[in-house]
Amino acid sequence: MYKILRKEILSANIKLMEIFAPKVAQKAAPGQFIILRIDEQGERIPLTIADFNAEKGTITMIFQEVGKTTSQLGTMKVGDSIRDFLGPLGIPMHIKNYGRVVCVGGGVGVAPLYPQARALKQAGNEIISIIGARSKSILFWEDEIHKVSDKSYITTDDGSYGHHGFVSDILKRLLEEKERIDRIIAIGPIPMMRVLCELTKPYNVPTFVSLNSIMVDGTGMCGCCRVTIGDEVKFTCVDGPDFDGHKVNFKELNARMKRFVPEEKEAMELFRKRSSCICQ
Ligand code: FES
Repeated sequence: MYKILRKEILSANIKLMEIFAPKVAQKAAPGQFIILRIDEQGERIPLTIADFNAEKGTITMIFQEVGKTTSQLGTMKVGDSIRDFLGPLGIPMHIKNYGRVVCVGGGVGVAPLYPQARALKQAGNEIISIIGARSKSILFWEDEIHKVSDKSYITTDDGSYGHHGFVSDILKRLLEEKERIDRIIAIGPIPMMRVLCELTKPYNVPTFVSLNSIMVDGTGMCGCCRVTIGDEVKFTCVDGPDFDGHKVNFKELNARMKRFVPEEKEAMELFRKRSSCICQ
């Protein structure tokens, strides 16, 4: 059993949890993820690692309540325990001194972006960060990102904070101003990553994206996370989750993302009904 040591509500449906999982924390690296199962009957879900502390033996994750399991997880409290917590999984991000790296995070993608930006900064890179959210109320970890960046930009879709618009606006400006950029890391919603890759391709700037959101069982067995990278078929969970964004077939990826929407809706409805029965 894996105890919840800390819980923070970052916004209405985005929560942070720090879990005591010493063996996972000892081996965790930026870019990796864990699989958890809340209880014996629970489904397995993959979540990215937002932070890790080998000394304390903890893993921090930030998740958005988008389905049945993440909503159930969001109801758990400090002191509660999670049944299974497996990891670290996935290939760690390749860290070296590339020069100037632009780190772009959208929505909850800011969480896995943070340890990557920190590790790249520690490796001697100059870090320019661009983080965005729909609105100020759901933006989180601005300070954390700021601390590991030489320069950082904020955007909100509704203009409630920072630049009124999208992360791609800022990146476009940097590219057009001919700022030297040696590498781009982009983590966020699939449409955001797609736009960024289309933007950077003509400039030939290596752009890496994280395809965590397509994973289901996270162990290479279910086959749900198949993606086409160039002319190769890869499994996000065992070959990724980070890939060369210019080679990702986003059209196919987008279609695959919608495959389980009906099942997810049904599970969510059931969870809502059960929760309201328990509360009454
Ligand atoms: S998530 Fe099932 S094979 Fe990758």
